[in-house]
Amino acid sequence: MKLWGGRFTKPTNQLVEEFNASILFDKELVEEDIQGSLAHVAMLGKCGILPKEDVEQISAGLKKILARVRRGEVQFSIEHEDIHMNIEKLLMDEIGSVGGKLHTGRSRNDQVALDMHLYIRRQTMELVRLLLQLQEVLLMQAEQQIDTILPGYTHLQRAQPVRFSHHLLAYASMFERDIERLVDSYKRVNTCPLGAGAIAGTTFPIDRRYVAEKLGFDRIYDNSMDAVSDRDYLVEFLSISSLIMTHLSRLSEELILWSSEEFQYIELDDAFCTGSSMMPQKKNPDIPELIRGKTGRVCGHLVSLLMTLKALPLTYNKDMQEDKEGVFDTVKTLTGSLELMAEILKTMKVNQKRMKQNVEQGFANATDLADYLVNKGIPFRKAHEIVGKLVLYCLKQEKFLLDCSLEEFQSFAPEIEQDIYDHLDPISVVEARKSEGGTAKEQVQKTLTKKKVKLAQF
Ligand code: ARG
Repeated sequence: MKLWGGRFTKPTNQLVEEFNASILFDKELVEEDIQGSLAHVAMLGKCGILPKEDVEQISAGLKKILARVRRGEVQFSIEHEDIHMNIEKLLMDEIGSVGGKLHTGRSRNDQVALDMHLYIRRQTMELVRLLLQLQEVLLMQAEQQIDTILPGYTHLQRAQPVRFSHHLLAYASMFERDIERLVDSYKRVNTCPLGAGAIAGTTFPIDRRYVAEKLGFDRIYDNSMDAVSDRDYLVEFLSISSLIMTHLSRLSEELILWSSEEFQYIELDDAFCTGSSMMPQKKNPDIPELIRGKTGRVCGHLVSLLMTLKALPLTYNKDMQEDKEGVFDTVKTLTGSLELMAEILKTMKVNQKRMKQNVEQGFANATDLADYLVNKGIPFRKAHEIVGKLVLYCLKQEKFLLDCSLEEFQSFAPEIEQDIYDHLDPISVVEARKSEGGTAKEQVQKTLTKKKVKLAQF
């Protein structure tokens, strides 16, 4: 007999049973479900809706079930559809018909909303912790690599030399904003929907604020219809998660490129790579590739939930059960990706020599020659053209700017003097970018310190 079987004359069709059930995935919410029920029943007692003895029996029964769940002794069943009814059924098996009083003044609609808020709240904090851990590794590498210089790229063409620290700190800035986004979303997540009932509230003299406070919520939903139909906080969570994955994916892409034989900027630790079943020489960066690949499915979960919600009338509709698998999968994907990225960055070896070589064997100092001419009074546009011609000349001669003799330089711009050689040296080029947020050592160091202080404050 179903918990809601009263008005039914036939058993549920077997296909419906399987199609309708969510227990195979919403069992993930078991801790939250019991935690919520404990607070709910305590409130029923406090408000005089249930006698003390019933409250005690129900609470003890719920705690016993929780202990059994934790010991792995509980089998959930599809027949009882979802985690909420499975727990209620287990409770009745445990303590008898008094267990049937737990659901007084409550609906699965506000119950599932409560469980998901508790779940997202916990996961938001966990993701912040993992992001902070990643941030720590990025800052450590940035500190160690402060004197490593590599070409910075635009269009994946060598553009201007930068400190490797500067490059890493760009990611630290992205992840810092991600942390801020999670922290900001927390206030919306930490809002209690319980007490909304099925849609309109309840006839029992409940105390919603008591439950909210007991569960550590900062506030309650002020409209019962919104409380049971709001999934904004899940969209927000998936959106922030998609952005974190996108940042991880861009970083992964660079790690993959940098560890290729073409770049040879870094070497990933053996423990984080895999081999080929056929080609004995291969060492593949599977993990960054998988992080890059899994970004697609997380962004997919975001779009999928938006599509599920977009035409739903108020209030609860069963479509909303579709919110869960994508969210659970996102949490799992993100947790693994963040943990692994921290380890990969911590253990990678940086090939400073190769990076320096690529700075020297290119025209990453061309802007600096143009700026040099500007300082001699030549308008920037004209200087740009002169250097462009000089680069073309060098390409034909198969050499770089610093290989030109003073006479060659002067044949393009007589203003050029002997000091040009120092001026175009990679270190001078990097150090010349002292503007705020630039790649000169003092600026990078300043940012690094700022980020370290911020990290310590979290
Ligand atoms: N398993 C359902 C879900 O995840 C719980 C809420 C069901 N409520 C209902 N009235 N059918 O959405």
